[in-house]
Amino acid sequence: MLDIKTIEKLESIATPFYYYDMDLFRRTIDHVAEMAERYNIKIHYAVKANVERRLLEEISAKGFGADCVSGNEVLHAHDCGFPADKIVFAGVGKSDKEIYNSLKLGIEAFNCESLQELYVINEMAHIHGVKARVSVRINPDIDAHTHKYVTTGLYENKFGISQHEFEKLIDILKKSENIQFYGLHFHIGSQITRVDEVFALECQRVNEIVAYFERQGLKVDNINLGGGLGVDYDDPDENPIADFETWFQTISDNIVKRDDQTVHVEPGRSLVAQCATLISRVLFVKSGETKNFLIMDAGMNDLIRPALYGAYHKIENLSAAQRTFFPTHQAYDIVGPVCESSDVWGAGRLLPLSVRGDIMAIRSTGAYGQVMASRYNMKDLAPSVFSDAIENAPEAVDYFE
Ligand SMILES: Cc1ncc(COP(=O)(O)O)c(C=O)c1O
Repeated sequence: MLDIKTIEKLESIATPFYYYDMDLFRRTIDHVAEMAERYNIKIHYAVKANVERRLLEEISAKGFGADCVSGNEVLHAHDCGFPADKIVFAGVGKSDKEIYNSLKLGIEAFNCESLQELYVINEMAHIHGVKARVSVRINPDIDAHTHKYVTTGLYENKFGISQHEFEKLIDILKKSENIQFYGLHFHIGSQITRVDEVFALECQRVNEIVAYFERQGLKVDNINLGGGLGVDYDDPDENPIADFETWFQTISDNIVKRDDQTVHVEPGRSLVAQCATLISRVLFVKSGETKNFLIMDAGMNDLIRPALYGAYHKIENLSAAQRTFFPTHQAYDIVGPVCESSDVWGAGRLLPLSVRGDIMAIRSTGAYGQVMASRYNMKDLAPSVFSDAIENAPEAVDYFE
């Protein structure tokens, strides 16, 4: 919970905006760096979760690599300090331009997702006289027990190459002269909370697949165990840092690896989700026929997760928390201003009596928030405000003065 002085400052800033708690962010990445060293696991930050330059610069300075899913993410990560040889590039649909730019940059590896992609990369690398390092993304057909929109490792998903193509795949890898086989890549889904069960299963499947590839004469130097660690959206104050220790311990207990093999993971959400809060202001309080509505100035254009996935975010009235009288609580449907019925932050949420002008905290919004923002309804994009540079934030304008 924020202290009174910070809340007072936040109240004076033009809303909506993303407030970054840089202290929590740094504690998170320090903790991850310590755990990664202890368990000898290499980290590639999944840039798709949040591309904010200040965060990327601090993550790259920690020595982590970057996991990108578009050519522009590759270029941006490089620009924010990630060395080319620490950038991997996944994604089912890499365009020729994206492949060319990444080849030119000399990235650590392409995580290839189809046989045709391998042909294309090999051919382009040949024409430009370079050798491309390539990991192959395998679809391991594992249920990550998460939301179906963020499950990636089942045969019904579009990602990776599945078992029925392994023979052809191995043949292509052996015959492609401009491809250097770098390793195997897996990704099974995001917001995984059944950590020990799901990652143990992934490791067992990976062990079998790695052994199969090596029996076919392809040495697997790098094993990338993608699958995103879940964060606590219900109680971010109780669990501000995700349980990296259980995650890495599970991997270490279950993966079979030699000393000359490197294990990689690619967390996005768990590095950044809890460090940001979307701050929004109550525009109007409206009594509907059956409900009370709080109409906020932040909408689904600022954070689409609730509308897209039905995602839950904890919501607090920061201004009401300052009021000295004992607050009455009331159930509200908290909604945004966008002209869509799905623009709802939360239905029937119990909050202290709220009034026009109160500022509200929509918690745990550092991942898949700002990166998915749009200008739908021609709304302005919510800017970033950093806890260590709060004085630079734009002041709210009083139009009644
Ligand atoms: C290939 C790949 N890597 C990494 C991630 C990051 O996952 P998370 O944000 O859950 O850590 C994703 C997310 O879906 C992904 O598709």
